[in-house]
Amino acid sequence: MIELAPGLLYQPGFYDRAQQEALVAELRAAVRQAPLFTPRMPRTGKEFSVRMTNCGELGWVSDAARGYRYQPRHPVTDAPWPAIPALALRAWEAGGFRAPPQACLVNFYDAKARMGLHQDRDEQALDAPVASISLGDSCLFRFGGSTRGGPTKSIRLESGDLVLIGGASRLCFHGVDKLYPGTSTLLAEAGRINLTLRRVEPA
Ligand code: SIN
Ligand code: FE2
Repeated sequence: MIELAPGLLYQPGFYDRAQQEALVAELRAAVRQAPLFTPRMPRTGKEFSVRMTNCGELGWVSDAARGYRYQPRHPVTDAPWPAIPALALRAWEAGGFRAPPQACLVNFYDAKARMGLHQDRDEQALDAPVASISLGDSCLFRFGGSTRGGPTKSIRLESGDLVLIGGASRLCFHGVDKLYPGTSTLLAEAGRINLTLRRVEPA
């Protein structure tokens, strides 16, 4: 593991190609049950450029009326979320937290999608790391400290890479500035999938 900052750990190639393919197959089954939806920003209702869905007992959603939150059901189908893929749990285990994850947010980036700098702070369990898995096209991932507007650094995340956002970096600002389309053959369509596993409630 490479320590990008205190508590921010990076393991390139955590999943090999065969594992990535198996994980994508698990995700395709999950997305059939819980289709991708387009979240909207709190208040303004502006659409995110990523589409998302979730696995696990809780899923992260956002809309204009009720803002960011976790809920046990899909906002469109009202069905419970599918189980977290078994292979994704290996990333959580790498973080060594004593309790299991409750949510696995699945973000799908097309060639133009990005994610502005933000903190993951809708979880009560801030002692648990967030485990982030990259699949498909590479992206430029930016991270900084725990205050907005401070200095940032960037790394290129590739398919199979794992990032653990924990410890002193648990509330670091982070985001995705851009994709590098056509840099991976993993997905049939162009784009990138990011999975983030989270513990929401105190363990
Ligand atoms: C996120 O912060 O929700 C996503 C990060 C990523 O796509 O790598
Ligand atoms: Fe995040």
